[in-house]
Amino acid sequence: MSYLLGLDIGTSGVKGLLLSGEGEIKLTHTENYPLYTPHPGWAEQNPEDWWEATKKCIKGIISKSGIDPADIKGISFSGQMHSSVFLDENMEIIRPAILWSDTRTSKQCQEIYERVGGLESLIGYVSNPALEGFTAPKILWLRENEPENYAKVKMVLLPKDYVRFKLTGAVHMDVSDGAGTLLMDVVKKDWSEGLLEKLGLSREILPPVVESIAVTGEITEEVAAETGLKAGTPVVAGGADNACGAVGSGIIKEGRVMVSIGTSGVVVAFARQPNADQGGRIHLFNHSRPDSWYMMGVMLSAGMSFEWMKENLFGNDLDYDRLNALAAEVEAGSEGLIFLPYLYGERTPHADANARGVYFGISGKHDRRHFIRSTMEGVAYGLNDSLELIKAQGVAIDEIRAIGGGAKSPVWQQILADIFGHEISLLNVEEGPAFGAALIAGVGVGLYDSFEEAGESIIRVDKTIAPIEDNVKRYNEYYSIYRDLYNSLKGDFANLANLN
Ligand code: XUL
Repeated sequence: MSYLLGLDIGTSGVKGLLLSGEGEIKLTHTENYPLYTPHPGWAEQNPEDWWEATKKCIKGIISKSGIDPADIKGISFSGQMHSSVFLDENMEIIRPAILWSDTRTSKQCQEIYERVGGLESLIGYVSNPALEGFTAPKILWLRENEPENYAKVKMVLLPKDYVRFKLTGAVHMDVSDGAGTLLMDVVKKDWSEGLLEKLGLSREILPPVVESIAVTGEITEEVAAETGLKAGTPVVAGGADNACGAVGSGIIKEGRVMVSIGTSGVVVAFARQPNADQGGRIHLFNHSRPDSWYMMGVMLSAGMSFEWMKENLFGNDLDYDRLNALAAEVEAGSEGLIFLPYLYGERTPHADANARGVYFGISGKHDRRHFIRSTMEGVAYGLNDSLELIKAQGVAIDEIRAIGGGAKSPVWQQILADIFGHEISLLNVEEGPAFGAALIAGVGVGLYDSFEEAGESIIRVDKTIAPIEDNVKRYNEYYSIYRDLYNSLKGDFANLANLN
């Protein structure tokens, strides 16, 4: 028997997935770790926790499955993007990692624009805008705020690269994660010398860039003794969680798009060509499938908006089935109640930390059912903003695959189809990035010839939901009001932020 091991170093924990060479998911195992918020807006984790949890996860997978570790033919990774691991000359951790969700770096984002001469110039270097979550501003933050720590920095890695280093002793970063550092030229697939110079950063602190499917090393004797893995097992670079999620949902061909409603909302569209959005509203990152890219929009509060509503408007008194049933009693458009899902600011399409949630158009005829439905609709409008930006870049959208917790709700599925004005597809497997990582391992070690061979027979469309024409028309009208609302309120959001 042959097996592949995918490990996703996520924000709440590490999830391992064991895939048989024939494409059967044998089992998954998750080990959690803490997230620290030493100040409001900060988000940190201890890389040692990732490493300890990964070892436990590997041991858990081996013992639960009862397989012979020699049958694991390849291991690969998915990981939270952008989060920075600072290492000293002995490859020891200097300080806790600063995570993708940390917003302390607004000043450094401004500094980046000043140093390069504006958005257009930055996009020329790295195809993306400076956002608080990305890695480059975190390095500048360290330089400005913790100079004694910065002086010790010999290497900056991302979470999965750190764990892979612990397994193999070798340092690399794959292109899909390199893209999210804001230091890599996503077209040339190498560090941007021009940008590094403008920012006063040394290329020496960055590891070599490789493709996601590159074999970057093997399990060392020491790690084998600690985990039960076989020494010499090949370890493949792996990718950013969104790239791996795309692989795991079959977003490996032109025309395919993934829409995910988890805590955040993500829209990922496969792109053959690296055409950046000159307005910087939508991200352009390298795919784990070589020589391809993806465009991505990230909404900060998608499922989170729904959870917030469930808890704070209804005191968690209603379960999901009841909430869905109530939402279904109201017609499309919630009779004019419109929700803006900006509870924690927004990333796409408005990179605006000051934006806030709004229920607009409340009238006496509205009741709790309208609030439930309009929350779902507001999230779908937000996701549609990303789809519109992707279309505007000339990227084909033939098939939209909906995944994540929110996409399990039949009402929300229909709302998505109606607001997108496009059929949506639901998949048979939803194991996400860890599954994508296992497929990448398989392609990397040559167990599969291609991503098509790896995924196409395993990932299938189970069901499609067609848009309802009358609803599409009505939503078009409400969507245009939804879009205007942000522009009308932008200044007020900023004024409000100044008071708080
Ligand atoms: C993507 C992003 C998040 C993280 C989550 O740009 O910041 O989706 O990758 O791990």
